[in-house]
Amino acid sequence: MRLALLAAAALSLSPMLADIAVADAADDAVKARRAYFTLLGANVGPLAAMAKGEVEYSAETATLHADNLGALSAVMIAPHFPEGTSKDDRFGDTRALPNIWTDFAGFAEKAEGLATAVAALQGVAGAGRAELGGGVQQVGAACKACHDDYRAADF
Ligand code: HEC
Repeated sequence: MRLALLAAAALSLSPMLADIAVADAADDAVKARRAYFTLLGANVGPLAAMAKGEVEYSAETATLHADNLGALSAVMIAPHFPEGTSKDDRFGDTRALPNIWTDFAGFAEKAEGLATAVAALQGVAGAGRAELGGGVQQVGAACKACHDDYRAADF
């Protein structure tokens, strides 16, 4: 009797566990992509500061951050945007607009635009402050182009 009850309890648990696993996967995806974008920002920030003259220009440091951006822009971000993780699905924890999922080709194109701008930046980051500035501006424009269309201003 006791065993039967335990077995029944275990059975009724399994669908619940499946739900938790799905919730965790969505949570993980949102966390991963937000961490990814944070890392992008953490590499653009020092470059922008150098380009503006707020921080002394260093060819070595500029190249390092540009190369980090090169590695990051090669990451395929699609797995971190599973269905059901837009800001309409998960209020308060993501700014990803639902049109990412209805226009994934357009979204992917913006990611391509970033990769192109970053490749150009890698070519000029070590060449001097003015050259770095031009490259950073292009990268900033590529970030903004995607945010304008696919990221909400607020959570
Ligand atoms: C292909 C589109 C795309 C490109 C290109 C892009 N972003 Fe974003 N970014 C997003 C989306 C979508 C979000 C919202 C993610 C979320 O809230 O789930 C975001 C969020 C962010 C965030 C906030 C992270 C957080 O903690 O919520 C930062 C910072 C950021 N992006 C910086 C950048 C920088 C810097 C670049 C360029 C080097 C860039 N992004 C390029 C789409 C993009």
